Amino acid sequence: MQASHFLTSHQKFPCTPHGLNPTHQYRFSPPSSTIRFPPQLRRPITSAVAAPSPPLLKHQKTHSMPSEKVEIFKSLENWATQNVLPLLKPVDQCWQPQSFLPDPSLPFADFTDQVRALRDMTAELPDEYFVVLVGDMITEDALPTYQTMINTLDGVRDETGASLNPWATWTRAWTAEENRHGDLLRTYLYLSGRVDMLSIEKTVQYLIGAGMDPGTENNPYLGFVYTSFQERATFVSHGNTARLAKEGGDPVLARICGTIASDERRHENAYAKIVEKLLEVDPTGAMLAIADMMRKKITMPAHLMYDGQDPRLFEHFSSVAQRLGVYTADDYADILEFLIGRWRLEKLEGLTGEGKRAQDFVCGLAPRIRKLQERADEKAKMMKPHGVRFSWIFNKEVALSD
Ligand SMILES: [Fe+2]
Ligand SMILES: [Fe+2]
Repeated sequence: MQASHFLTSHQKFPCTPHGLNPTHQYRFSPPSSTIRFPPQLRRPITSAVAAPSPPLLKHQKTHSMPSEKVEIFKSLENWATQNVLPLLKPVDQCWQPQSFLPDPSLPFADFTDQVRALRDMTAELPDEYFVVLVGDMITEDALPTYQTMINTLDGVRDETGASLNPWATWTRAWTAEENRHGDLLRTYLYLSGRVDMLSIEKTVQYLIGAGMDPGTENNPYLGFVYTSFQERATFVSHGNTARLAKEGGDPVLARICGTIASDERRHENAYAKIVEKLLEVDPTGAMLAIADMMRKKITMPAHLMYDGQDPRLFEHFSSVAQRLGVYTADDYADILEFLIGRWRLEKLEGLTGEGKRAQDFVCGLAPRIRKLQERADEKAKMMKPHGVRFSWIFNKEVALSD
């Protein structure tokens, strides 16, 4: 069956001078909810930690790990088998997206009843919530980029695509676990009818095509610091979308986001364990890597997102996430403080002079980020509140600041 057979007459798209162009103004747009979440007490917008706008690629350094250090990762293979691989869940014990979704094997009327129930639950969630959820879903859906990124890392990459090396085994199984996140969120959003799937799909295609620029330099020290931070950031962010879904009257979506968050937590634990081990076997090397990544600032994985319309899409999505308290500058500083505690960086011994300077820098950074943010907040207060239109929600406008 052709795709157009699914369209009702009022949804069919007219041709434009640019060819068949299903532009948003012609498309069916569901009524928006008038409910908004209460203004958050948490701080919005961060200039201190905001990712660069899409065209800026900052990091061009490659293969920065000295080749002899590849041996460290070789020597840790048994350790990884015993300590990292057990943090994966066997497939038959994993949840799958279908468990949270209407069952298409039911008789049609029962299936559509389930879809209707889903739509009733999402009806009261505000548009701004969907902007954040879509941004999170798109971030998850760019998974090919993250598997590629990990496979750029010297000494741990999957050399064959089916390597039995524990680092490669972890990466493939991690990818397979992560793959459920985007699938589930995407299907739920599709069934909700609240978002413009065409625009979302376009954004995903642009994003995977653009890749990411995390500054990890083929260096697994930097790569695992990055993934430790990033998995915790997604844990925080999905945890907050779960909370908001619950407050907004959708317990199923709350359970979905909460379940994804708990996967992120388990993944964070694996990556943080690897860095912990590196701090044990090579304290200065690992400490310098942490400082290096923090100096560069942790770039969010979807920082190159684009929908064909808004060149500042990532910045705008981040602003909404920060305003709703889904992911804020405080969260960034909190994650840093959490990892400093988890890795016991303040008490780390056996460092060279350079290592000690890196330790001082990292351990003193969180209060500096918070201070910078306070100043940015003061400045932001002086600016006029404004909104931005998001193609993901049929070009409806969402406020970027209160
Ligand atoms: Fe994920
Ligand atoms: Fe993740």
